[in-house]
Amino acid sequence: RPQDIPVITIDGPTASGKGTLTDEVARALGYGVLDSGSLYRVTGLAAHRAGLDLNDGAAVAALVPTLDLRFEEGRVLLDEEDVSNELRQEATGLMASQVGAHPPVRQALHQLQLDFRRLPGLVADGRDMGTAIFPDASLKVFLTASAATRAERRFNQLISKGVPAKLDDLRADLEARDARDKTRSASPLQAAADAIELDNSAHSVEASKDLVLGWWQTKRPFP
Ligand code: DC
Repeated sequence: RPQDIPVITIDGPTASGKGTLTDEVARALGYGVLDSGSLYRVTGLAAHRAGLDLNDGAAVAALVPTLDLRFEEGRVLLDEEDVSNELRQEATGLMASQVGAHPPVRQALHQLQLDFRRLPGLVADGRDMGTAIFPDASLKVFLTASAATRAERRFNQLISKGVPAKLDDLRADLEARDARDKTRSASPLQAAADAIELDNSAHSVEASKDLVLGWWQTKRPFP
């Protein structure tokens, strides 16, 4: 039964380091990964390509079941095209945030996310993994970092990939995205009541991973 398959949820704001921490924890445990942001990103991108109005929740939701999506080792294929690089761009992140504000879109993506729950276990990264998608998860982490730290990390990430970036613009963008993700009425970004909050501003990835693995030792539903 799906409920018997262990899940760790890692929710938090943009650029808090969720993706990296999720991958590290999953690797240490041999679990699979759900990068739910990539589902919102690919939905935003596909809707944009189809010429839809991203503010039209019903139209975007209707597009979802028609999408030809494949997930392969962290890469996303849309109609057989590898769109992984395009998905990571800031412009696509903004489209994701826009389409994610509509309840019908969130509903359309719900089952797709549940389907990632497979043995031996799952680490799910997003905004509402612990609150809406896997409310029964045995361990829920709410990962935060200061806006300054997050902007700086995103900046270094982009520069190292040769993508030009401005620190002030990045910070303004992610604060705008946070505000929208937190204030939307459908599954706002919010820590689950039973989530453990982890501010990783001053932690290395290694230190955060060790903390989460330590919590998992005490919370995992089996010996
Ligand atoms: O985690 P990310 O940066 O890839 O997410 C991009 C956007 O997608 C984010 O600003 C809001 C939306 N999103 C969401 O609404 N719910 C999720 N579970 C994941 C992402």
